Parts: sequence; C-alpha cells; structure tokens
Amino acid sequence: MRNNSSRLDRVEQTPNLAGPPLTPRTAVVWSVLRAELDRRPATELTVLDVGGGTGGFAVPLARAGHRVTVVDASPDALAALSRRAAEAGVAQRVRAVQGDGDALAGLVEPASVDLVLCHAVLEVVDDPAPVVAALAGALRPGGAASVLVAGRAAAVLGRAMNGHLDVAAALAADPDGSAGPRDTLRRRFDADGATTLLAAAGLAVEEIHGVRVLADLLPAAVADGQPGALLELERALAARPPWRDLAAQLHLFARRPA
Ligand SMILES: C[S@@+](CC[C@H](N)C(=O)[O-])C[C@H]1O[C@@H](n2cnc3c(N)ncnc32)[C@H](O)[C@@H]1O
Repeated sequence: MRNNSSRLDRVEQTPNLAGPPLTPRTAVVWSVLRAELDRRPATELTVLDVGGGTGGFAVPLARAGHRVTVVDASPDALAALSRRAAEAGVAQRVRAVQGDGDALAGLVEPASVDLVLCHAVLEVVDDPAPVVAALAGALRPGGAASVLVAGRAAAVLGRAMNGHLDVAAALAADPDGSAGPRDTLRRRFDADGATTLLAAAGLAVEEIHGVRVLADLLPAAVADGQPGALLELERALAARPPWRDLAAQLHLFARRPA
C-alpha cells in the first residue's frame, strides 16, 4: 500500500480543476481522485459512477473534461442528474442509465472504463459481492476504483454517544454491522472487511482513507465556526489509524491489475 499522507499532501497543492466545493464529506475523496486524474493529464477518461445519484461527483468530473456514465436504480435521481449536467453545460459528456449495479455487463462494455466510482452504495444493496465483481469487470486492466462505504466503528460510537446503548450494542454484535430491520443500512464495514471484499473481485487496494473522522462528532458550533481548521484536521487524520478507522465512511482506492 502506498504512503497515503504524502499523496494527500501533494494533491492539496493542486488547483481545484473540477471546482467542487471541498467539505469534510468530499475533500479527501477529491484529493485521491485528482491524483489519479493527474496521472493522465489532458486525457478524456471514461468514468462510470455506479449509484451516482444526482451527480455530485459525475458533473464535476464531466466539467473537468471526462466522459461519465452514471448507472443508478432511481429514475428520480437520474432526472436530477440530467438537469444538473445541463445546467453545468456538460450534458453531452454525462450519460444517465437506469439499472442495477450488479448487472453492469449488459449496460457498460466490459473492460472499457478507466475509473469507476461506487460511493455509498455497497451498504444498501442486497449483496455487495456481485456489485463489486461488476465494478471490476467494467474496468480496463490498470483502471481504478473509488469505493466509499459506511464505517462500522463510527456508527457504534455515534449511537452510544447519543444515548442509544442498545442500538450501539446491536450494531457492534451484528456480523454485518447493521442494527436490525429498522436500520437504514444493510451493513457497515471496517477496513479489513472492505479490503477483503474488493480483493475477492480481483481489485488491489492501494489506499484507504477515513472520511468524516471528526465532522459528525463535533458540536455544530465548532464545525460551522471553524470550517478551515476542521478540514485541515480531517485531512491530517484521514490516512492514519486509529483515527482513519473511526471515520463515518471509509474510502478505498483500488486498481484492476494491468
Ligand atoms: C446514498 S445514495 C449515494 C449517491 C452518490 N453515490 C453519493 O455518494 O452521493 C445511494 C444511491 O445508490 C442507488 N442505488 C441503490 N441500489 C442500487 C443498485 N442496486 N444499483 C444501482 N444503484 C443503486 C440509489 O438510487 C442512490 O442514488
């Protein structure tokens, strides 16, 4: 695995080409993605965003000159994506496809994609393994995957700190990291479990970062009052266990071997 800190340090100095707002929710992921885009400057990459929703990543990537296909199960999300792409003047570079993440082979040419995104999806699908296999199958050899999943430890801490000790205990005890039928997520991950899931599909994990290590734990007055300091601290902690592993989300950057 590479040295995450040095890569983030390097990327922080890179101009914000795509122009997305940097928040604790997005800054670390954009840093990692921008480093990947910078490997092939002035190249139009083929990007696939599975469960890309309303285009929070797809539209800035299209604005940066890439060709993005968003596959999402929700027609409403895709309609919002199309509006957003049109408003940004990149409708011709964004393709919205309604479909299932585990049936990509029928929607996207196999081994054709340079960069695949799958953010906040593996925790809600019926079974994450076929979705990850489909992501890997869509990637060309050497292509990269950006996978964002819900963190298990943060959910346990968050429930406990809010006084829901029974829910925290259920989450900690459940093998999938779900609090049961009323939980909005089917599962949550730790770094090892997510790495194993990706490796089983033939993806080699190169970097893992925590996203929102502190942001969700702070009083709003602190988070809103010191946004710059919070962002700086999030970036400083993102690659470093044990803080990384307490984050609300884990970002895995992986590659299909060339
Ligand atoms: C929590 S949202 C995440 C949206 C976006 N990736 C983000 O990070 O902001 C989950 C998205 O996954 C989509 N989704 C859920 N199950 C799916 C599936 N099996 N195949 C494709 N998309 C799916 C939902 O419609 C929704 O847009």
